[in-house]
Amino acid sequence: MPRLVRSTKVGIVNFVHVNEVGPRDGIQNTNAVLSVSERFELIRSLEKSGIQSIEIGSFVSPKAVPSMSGTDKLFKRLSNKNNYSVLVPNLKGFNLAQENNVEEICLVLCVTDSMNKKNINKTVEESTIEFKKIIDESNRNNIRTKCYISVAFYCPYEGKVDNGYVVELTNTIISYGVDEIVIADTIGQANPSEVKELFKKLARSNNTDQFSAHFHDTKALGLSNVFASLEEGIRKFDSCIGGLGGCPFAPGSTGNLATEDLVGMMEMMNIDTGIDIDSLLQSRELASKMTSLELIGRMY
Ligand code: COA
Ligand code: ZN
Repeated sequence: MPRLVRSTKVGIVNFVHVNEVGPRDGIQNTNAVLSVSERFELIRSLEKSGIQSIEIGSFVSPKAVPSMSGTDKLFKRLSNKNNYSVLVPNLKGFNLAQENNVEEICLVLCVTDSMNKKNINKTVEESTIEFKKIIDESNRNNIRTKCYISVAFYCPYEGKVDNGYVVELTNTIISYGVDEIVIADTIGQANPSEVKELFKKLARSNNTDQFSAHFHDTKALGLSNVFASLEEGIRKFDSCIGGLGGCPFAPGSTGNLATEDLVGMMEMMNIDTGIDIDSLLQSRELASKMTSLELIGRMY
């Protein structure tokens, strides 16, 4: 029998790409600092479920985020190098990524000066100038680049962010030749109408293929925001096993949208992710055991 492809209001969607951020966004903010071996084991388990895109860690100051130290050792031990991305906040992080032959880097630009200062001690303008250099150098060296447009809807220090300004900043980064833009609701305050409006505005001058979305589930609106994004043509989403996570520098930032919830909803909608949910639930168990945390994902 031919596979049923259900047509919904979002149009015919066959496949959604899931980028797992548990090993970075998920564990950077937990009290339990995982060892490199535990991080390795978690990534291997996630890969077994069919996940092919994982943010495995970051090259940041070990004083700022102690849980991410050892990312170089972790990267060396992993085998499917082109499945992994690593967050870099500045040129020093980029140099470390190059030394370790990382194939995909994630830059993070918080759109307000207050949040960008707290996160990486630079103004938006200073980071933008540095990111242009990093993107240029990456393009010369065949390194794939993603840029997170962080606190894209609400900033914990400055409140609601004007979406016209976010579009302008995003277009500037796109003009530098970045491969992908991730629109991030870092503190989980956005609602589906705001998500639709921002993606609609971005689509006026860009192809939606180059965007993905990153939601936190603070107000239980993560899946609703995914659906709103699907309606605007977005097909790539970040999520985190168990719904762990949050940014240590953004007060109010709670867990990410859980991978099992995202994959579960896609399965119910007959949208393929290439991920086996039963196997994913074993990774959830592992994450729960390693962090000793109650997980917020509901699809288990
Ligand atoms: N990786 C590792 N160490 C780094 C680094 C990097 N990418 N960038 C700077 N450092 C080190 C410097 O070598 C210096 O070390 P020293 O004290 O031993 O001499 C120290 O950090 C301070 O360097 P400086 O350039 O003055 O940085 P800063 O104090 O202004 O901090 C960041 C800037 C970006 C390094 C720091 O804020 C950071 O790591 N933030 C990470 C934020 C994050 O991961 N947020 C969550 C994800 S969104
Ligand atoms: Zn996040």
